[in-house]
Amino acid sequence: MTTADALAGRRIVVSAGPTYEDIDPVRFLGNRSSGRMGFAIAAAAARRGADVVLVAGPVSLPTPPGVARVDVRSARDMHRAVLDALPADAYVGAAAVADWTPVAPAAAKLKKQPGVDRLVLELQRTADILADVARHPSRPRLVVGFAAETSGDLAAHAQGKLRDKGADAIAANRVGVAGSGFESPDNALEVWWRGGSRSLGPAPKTALADQLLDLLDTIAASTDRA
Ligand code: PMT
Repeated sequence: MTTADALAGRRIVVSAGPTYEDIDPVRFLGNRSSGRMGFAIAAAAARRGADVVLVAGPVSLPTPPGVARVDVRSARDMHRAVLDALPADAYVGAAAVADWTPVAPAAAKLKKQPGVDRLVLELQRTADILADVARHPSRPRLVVGFAAETSGDLAAHAQGKLRDKGADAIAANRVGVAGSGFESPDNALEVWWRGGSRSLGPAPKTALADQLLDLLDTIAASTDRA
């Protein structure tokens, strides 16, 4: 289903890109997400006529046509922007959100001290955006997360995240390997939902975004009947 008005009247919130967690005014903890996967999903949804809000971490991609973009920096900013964008019909969390953030970012650049060759950085957990969207009073009809794994059983991780985060579907992808995950123009997804699973790709992220939206339509219809 790719007609220009297939998602007309639907509001879809998509998160994309990394978050940056400041250590001091010049250093941060980040990750290698380029935003390509989430931007492709936002663009595909807008082409289908959806009203799309794209909450983007620090990336250098242009805003897809017809998409309302909210730029954020940290996991905390992204959490606020995503929840502020509700209510929506669907949330797709493709961002690589930091799980940890410095407890006390320094106000000035951390200096090297003579004779000190270690620095201990204390980190605290960030709020889980996906889980908070799934338990929100204005919960979208469809809550979709991603799972990025470098190793191990992709299916087990995806099913664990489906259960633990209260999502309706999890799209799992390998990261840290060539041809998928972070930065690559291509990806391959294993999508899990309570009623089943489907492999998508390998394919360009732009094509995968359309395939994922088609599949979400099927998943929404199947959970409507459940
Ligand atoms: O941006 P690209 O370069 O195109 O790369 C795409 C991608 C690899 C970043 C993307 O396909 C992807 O896998 N995104 C999720 C990355 C991730 O953080 O996965 P995770 O397994 O750590 O998190 C699982 C889910 O929880 C994700 O939907 C994530 O957005 C969400 N999460 C995680 C932590 C947190 N504090 N809040 C969250 O909402």
